[in-house]
Amino acid sequence: MRIDIITVVPDLLKSPFEASILKRAIEKGLVAVHLHNLRDYVSDNYKQIDDYQYGGGAGMVMMIEPIDKCISHLKSQRDYDEVIYMTPDGSTLNQGTANQLSLKKNIIILCGHYKGVDERVREHFITREISIGDYVLSGGELGAAVLCDAVIRLIPGVLGNETSALTDSFQDNLLAPPIYTRPAEYKGWKVPEILTTGNFPKIEAWREKKAYERTQERRPDLLKD
Ligand code: ADE
Repeated sequence: MRIDIITVVPDLLKSPFEASILKRAIEKGLVAVHLHNLRDYVSDNYKQIDDYQYGGGAGMVMMIEPIDKCISHLKSQRDYDEVIYMTPDGSTLNQGTANQLSLKKNIIILCGHYKGVDERVREHFITREISIGDYVLSGGELGAAVLCDAVIRLIPGVLGNETSALTDSFQDNLLAPPIYTRPAEYKGWKVPEILTTGNFPKIEAWREKKAYERTQERRPDLLKD
């Protein structure tokens, strides 16, 4: 998979890919992430990428031309499955979207800034708009990092244990059950006995029950679908 991220603050997006699972995924060649500074696609000397809103109003708007130049340059080199725009008014990211995107070959992610992009960018270039939650960030970069993390960890081979992504919270519309590790007893607090019996069918049934109970208690909305 190849991910091209278009941003005005590439520095914000460097460290997420320089550690842990994402770094390893890149080193293994399972994903390539390329950052593009939008200012490199501006012809004027001031490197202006934003301008005042038509009709008045507070806040600057990202101009269409540098975005067009950057996206067109990328598209001249390969086909893209998706051009995603990170924006608080997009559809909220969930595990289903992450699963879908993990199957794509090439995607572009455009990070919004200031008030956002000229609407014509959304009409003519964007195939999908994603929000990471009902709050407003200073820009789409941190949202793009969240999206990349959620997607990249699902690419086969990225996680050491292939089954561990499948047992994540949300993967089957259930939250994950409680988990424990050694010691079996700490300060008198015991691990549920069933988990130490080695009876795997019973353990599995216990986990399913706990996952269901936890979902019922914390996120009953997930059980409606
Ligand atoms: N840009 C600003 N706020 C955002 C959000 N909540 N999700 C994605 N991109 C954003």
